[in-house]
Amino acid sequence: MERVLITGGAGFIGRHLTRRLLDQGHAVRVIDSLLPQVHGSQGHKPTDLGPEVDLRIADLRNTAAVVEALRGVDVVVHLAAAVGVGQSMYRVADYVGGNELGTASLWEAILASRVDHPLRRCVVASTMGIYGEGVYRSAVDETPRTVPPRQLGQLVAGDWEHRDAAGRQLVPFPLTEASPVQPRSVYALSKFQQEQLSRMLGDAYGIPVTTLRLFNVYGPGQALANPYAGVLAIFGARLLNGLPPELFEDGQQLRDFVHVTDVARAFHLAIDQTGDASTTLNIASGSAIPLVDLAKRLAGQLGRPDLTPVVTGRYRSGDTRHSLADISAAQKVLGYHPEVDLHAGLSQFVQWLGQQPLPRASSNATAELAVHGLMHGDSRTSPP
Ligand SMILES: NC(=O)c1ccc[n+]([C@@H]2O[C@H](COP(=O)([O-])OP(=O)(O)OC[C@H]3O[C@@H](n4cnc5c(N)ncnc54)[C@H](O)[C@@H]3O)[C@@H](O)[C@H]2O)c1
Repeated sequence: MERVLITGGAGFIGRHLTRRLLDQGHAVRVIDSLLPQVHGSQGHKPTDLGPEVDLRIADLRNTAAVVEALRGVDVVVHLAAAVGVGQSMYRVADYVGGNELGTASLWEAILASRVDHPLRRCVVASTMGIYGEGVYRSAVDETPRTVPPRQLGQLVAGDWEHRDAAGRQLVPFPLTEASPVQPRSVYALSKFQQEQLSRMLGDAYGIPVTTLRLFNVYGPGQALANPYAGVLAIFGARLLNGLPPELFEDGQQLRDFVHVTDVARAFHLAIDQTGDASTTLNIASGSAIPLVDLAKRLAGQLGRPDLTPVVTGRYRSGDTRHSLADISAAQKVLGYHPEVDLHAGLSQFVQWLGQQPLPRASSNATAELAVHGLMHGDSRTSPP
């Protein structure tokens, strides 16, 4: 039996992974600061974490607490991070401090502990956000190419797509692990720094590092009251309050939604990896859907098809247009195959939503972005 330390293990993905590892006979320890934005101001242990989990409530920047938490640990899964793309653009020190210094402190603790009990592997959660605008091809030429961020003038005119010099719409290309890294938010930059620091120190000290670049993760247990949480949780919170989901731009942005049980399985496969190789892998479902279609499907499955999504025509600084994943490397290296399709995953999510206390359908996040000059455009309420 191996002992696994999960940083950020009290969070959404961490709780699913913890349950899975316990079911498979692992011993699990969690270190988590129980950030109020995710866990509420009381900072209680999440009820679904279970008494068998050894929870240490501490920030990763407390190196002594991390050294203590690492005692007898074979594998570290590093999930702890402040998660919020827009928020990271004005709470810069919080994101750089928590995510980058937190990772630095974790590694100092790993290095201090390695003489007593060397780590077999470290698995790090990263994000599709590091790819930024991504890769596109033209309708006439199959060659993938990077694109510059869309210009403000184009967005003001409500022209949302990437275009070539002749004005022809470009077609999004699935992102591979070799796609260029071009983060467009402080959050994404801090996640790339977590990747790089972990990989560099892992190579230097002979600790294999597996980095999983996650696309949009959804499922039961998402923090509905956190306005910076995933888009499906935000749609769900609005629908439960009898409000239609709101979409930026024209709602046609493509995103790849992967169910949290598939993500937990990917982490488990990475933990069980043998050998010395360090790897970086995309974890997604492999198929993408326009956000407006997703919002309609969620409303329909929740029994509120009358709450038609509202396309606001507004746009956020730093938002990327489309995001598609190539997951062939994870299939080859880990044997990872997504098992939960969107229909089944949404049904499960809807069932869970129905059991939750009514969440706040807060628009704080949008208001804060506006205050910081990161939200643009008039609010239009055109039908999708
Ligand atoms: N959920 C997604 O769609 C998604 C997508 C891409 C990547 N990721 C990555 O996956 C990981 C887990 O995400 P999640 O959705 O479970 O987020 P979450 O917010 O639910 O969980 C993160 C946990 O980390 C803890 N934490 C944050 N900073 C900490 C620190 N400095 N010290 C100790 N604990 C700290 C929080 O209290 C929280 O419990 C993150 O690294 C995130 O960047 C998530």
